[in-house]
Amino acid sequence: MTQKYGIIGFPLDHTFSPYIHNTAFNFLKINARYDKFEIPPISFEKDISRLKSENINGFNVTVPYKQKILPFLDEIEPIAKKVGAVNTIKKLSKNYWKGYNTDLYGFIQPLRGYLSEIKNVLIIGAGGAAKAACFSLLSEKKEIELTIVNRTIENADKLRTSLIDSFKNIITTHSLLQMEIIQMQYDLIVNTTNVGMGKLSLQIPLGVSGLVHKNSVVYDLIYNPEETLFLQSVSNKNIIRINGLQMLIGQAKKSFSIWTDKEYPYQILDENNFYKSEF
Ligand code: ATR
Repeated sequence: MTQKYGIIGFPLDHTFSPYIHNTAFNFLKINARYDKFEIPPISFEKDISRLKSENINGFNVTVPYKQKILPFLDEIEPIAKKVGAVNTIKKLSKNYWKGYNTDLYGFIQPLRGYLSEIKNVLIIGAGGAAKAACFSLLSEKKEIELTIVNRTIENADKLRTSLIDSFKNIITTHSLLQMEIIQMQYDLIVNTTNVGMGKLSLQIPLGVSGLVHKNSVVYDLIYNPEETLFLQSVSNKNIIRINGLQMLIGQAKKSFSIWTDKEYPYQILDENNFYKSEF
């Protein structure tokens, strides 16, 4: 029987996940299919309850449901519980879903080669994606000083409070306005907000050209468009710029292993194809 997998989110027009997983199922000759389950917020509870009773082996969960899905899970891996967000579900038995967070793994992958040089970090945003990024980073490296900047300072403070429960690092918070007078240079700056995609594609979350040094890494979690205005804004400098594609592939790889107990056949993905193909 064909195994079924899929992604739950809204909207799902431009997701690359079906391509990433179906390509691997085909390559490894696994009898499985990965589909989109676009669920509008108004029918979320009803649709999730229905999916739970169906014979579907696993899901990815994306925006805006990574937190909303938690009450529907029967078990959650400890780190995902701490972060309060799940992006992967595996059906362990009838009506029994276990939740995982593979974004934590995906986030850190493109930074591996630079981590030894990274000490001062600026995180832009304080939502679910920011929390996963902070957990991933602080779990990976102890000697990091973190600054969180967010439009709403209260949300940055809330994120700080949830982090100091688990980590001893120095964590500072600022509002976007306060950031205008900060004269600091960061080794790593990460945009975790959605400013730069969709309707916000003509905006940048924060001007950072005065906050970088010549070896800084600037990382935007957005992968579509391939190069946001934020990344473009530092393109005249010799700075390492990373978009969200490696994180997307990293989290998918880990989800794939959770579902199939097999390594993702990484060599099959041609990253140039992502921005050329229609999905
Ligand atoms: P996600 O789970 O993707 O992180 P989220 O939890 O809704 O989504 O968080 C969105 C983040 O983007 C927040 O930090 C939000 O700032 P606020 O806390 O002030 O809401 C930020 N954000 C969203 N739209 C923004 C905008 N137009 N300008 C600046 N920040 C924005």
